[in-house]
Amino acid sequence: MKTFQVVPEICMLSTVDEFLKEFAPGENDLVFASRGTQKRHLGGKLGAATVIDYREYGQGEPTDLMVEGIVAALGGKTYDRVFAIGGGTILDVAKLFALEQLSPVTDLYQKKFPAKKAHPLILVPTTCGTGSEVTNISILELTKLGTKMGLADAALYADQAVLVPELLKGLPDRVFGASAIDALIHSVESYTSPKSTPFSRTFSLRAMDAIIAGFLAIEKDGLAAREARQGTFLLASTYAGIAFGNAGCAAVHALSYPLGAAQHVPHGEANAVMFAAVYEAYKKKRYDGRLAELMQHITTLLGTSEDDAFPQLMALLDKILPKKPLAGYGVKEADLKDYTDIVMTKQGRLMANNYVELTEDDVLGIYQKLYHQS
Ligand SMILES: [Fe+2]
Repeated sequence: MKTFQVVPEICMLSTVDEFLKEFAPGENDLVFASRGTQKRHLGGKLGAATVIDYREYGQGEPTDLMVEGIVAALGGKTYDRVFAIGGGTILDVAKLFALEQLSPVTDLYQKKFPAKKAHPLILVPTTCGTGSEVTNISILELTKLGTKMGLADAALYADQAVLVPELLKGLPDRVFGASAIDALIHSVESYTSPKSTPFSRTFSLRAMDAIIAGFLAIEKDGLAAREARQGTFLLASTYAGIAFGNAGCAAVHALSYPLGAAQHVPHGEANAVMFAAVYEAYKKKRYDGRLAELMQHITTLLGTSEDDAFPQLMALLDKILPKKPLAGYGVKEADLKDYTDIVMTKQGRLMANNYVELTEDDVLGIYQKLYHQS
């Protein structure tokens, strides 16, 4: 049986002030927001809430060590609602703090104890990428296991996902590029997932259309086009979140996680590195059905021929976010076998959604191809 659901209530507001008035975070609330977000958007308006900046607990994308550091810093302090205002990684961390028990977090991710929701959870994205605000998934780097892992559980759904386009203003180019490409890949991987349904594919296509049209406009008119479309990009990333929250992501994400964990490459950029090679590998093994439909759709969006569609899309993405061969990120050729082992043994949740089964040799072949060539 295939199912489709959107669990959080989706609240749409125009400005941060409207959000603060509506939700009034204050005493008894736990708020996750980086120092930068606090300064840019929230300046002193969080009342007596307990505010956590996860960057005080470690560098880069979140790890089990950061989460345990925050648990220790809270020292058993009680709280009511949990808010997260930030990028997908902050949202993913905050989801864990809405649970009754989250530590030891490595055990939680390995399902050694159940996830039980204990606090209302309000998620407010400040990037247009992860769609985390509408999914039941939290991704964390588990340092002991040497990879990122996803925990998918109904207890991780937000109660409310709040969309405020104003929060996207002033995003650095690379953060915008990585997050919007991540959203595009969510829409593509969910479209070709065997778990997709007519409902999820509708959200995938709407996201894909808006993001590719947005990238073409940015290619032509630069930042002005991006700023004019920040509300559209935010909606598109939420559509893509709804699509992959139901149909799942697949090998592009699975192969990107060892790179992200080992070389601290931002999530969207690591996905961009894997994107073309994974779809070429699918295409070589079986080109039909949903994969052929996807290519025809991209062909129409770009107004090109079917053979040129994917290379043209990749050239467009490179203008939004230039990427490098794996060697350029500091990966050693000897690491590729280890990356492959991690994918095959730890990323079964994602690899189950591949359009065509990819074997260990296929995965190693993709990494080898990307080693010298981006
Ligand atoms: Fe992603």
